[in-house]
Amino acid sequence: MDRKTELELLDRCLSLYNERKTELMEGEVVSPVDRYISSERFNLEMEHIFKTSPLIVAHSAELAEANSYIAREWLEGFPLLITRDTDGMVHAFANVCKHRGGKLAREGKGCSRRLVCPYHAWSYDLEGKLKTIPHEKSGFPSFDKENTRLKELACTEAYGFIWVQREEGSGLNIEAYLDGMDTDLTRFTEPEHVLFDEAVQDWNMNWKILVEGGIESYHFKIAHRETIAPLFNDNLSVFDEFGPHFRSILTKSSLKQLRDTEQENWDIREHANILYSLFPLTSVLVQPDHFAIINAIPLAADKTRISIQTFVPKGTDVTEKARHHWQANFAFTKDTLIEDFVIGEQIQQGIASGANESFTFGRFEAALARFHDITEAKLRNV
Ligand code: FES
Ligand SMILES: [Fe+2]
Repeated sequence: MDRKTELELLDRCLSLYNERKTELMEGEVVSPVDRYISSERFNLEMEHIFKTSPLIVAHSAELAEANSYIAREWLEGFPLLITRDTDGMVHAFANVCKHRGGKLAREGKGCSRRLVCPYHAWSYDLEGKLKTIPHEKSGFPSFDKENTRLKELACTEAYGFIWVQREEGSGLNIEAYLDGMDTDLTRFTEPEHVLFDEAVQDWNMNWKILVEGGIESYHFKIAHRETIAPLFNDNLSVFDEFGPHFRSILTKSSLKQLRDTEQENWDIREHANILYSLFPLTSVLVQPDHFAIINAIPLAADKTRISIQTFVPKGTDVTEKARHHWQANFAFTKDTLIEDFVIGEQIQQGIASGANESFTFGRFEAALARFHDITEAKLRNV
């Protein structure tokens, strides 16, 4: 985000605050609930959105060292292996041995020049090349070891994130995908950060309920009354679109101080949280001195695996006192998000009950209407 945009956004929010207004869409929007529960619809989303979009699978800081890797279950249970090779290049592979399909790396993170299959010890380097086969000469005299590699997926590192696409497309062009959001986002996320802590949990809710919770502030005062409500203005946020992505400015109670502050001293991170919602399902929450990533994997129409990660500026987590500070911060962010997820599970139950055929988005819930427009358009264009 450049300085001009920062000032314009703050000015826009302060004007709304002064006039006691909220940005409104034309009228309410009705959204059918079938979108959250149909497994047929879920399969379409999987095929035509998730498997054909570049998805953020990690922040670069999570895979900082050469010869490091991350293994995890991904879309439709795909065993994903992300590596940074000896030369620093990132790759994404199926975590599946070429011999008889053993899982090479255990779920989690590690550092090693070689991955050795736990079944019969075939070994691979982090470029995915098969390096050794025990008893090769006697057992596999005609096997083409030299040309055997792990199955590789399209993967690139851009703007401080690692992106993977499940199905081959025309290559990964992240600049085009971000549609103008790139430098806006990287001002906050690219400087050197480290992952401080993370939590992963499965929630019985559709992935779209998760996205919706991030792009309106109508619920802050009510749903978050035990956590962040006192820190934020009631229902005062603005959003902008970058292709299918959103940037939401969630204003804090301190915004009013700008009335008495010279513009040159305005700092958006002091008076608002910035939430980047990267389509389809990754959110980057920029807080005053650090950021969090809320990422997810849709498991079924009514089940989503959600991770919450807190990244802090490198070197700020070395003393006991500092660690305490970040730990409290992580816990607070997590507790706030859990308030959303608990409600999300209840909403999913409510949908399953058949009590509602549709939901109604109010005029200040315009981002929700746009999010559904964008999702519908992706499904129609197939
Ligand atoms: S399955 Fe991996 S070495 Fe046999
Ligand atoms: Fe929330």
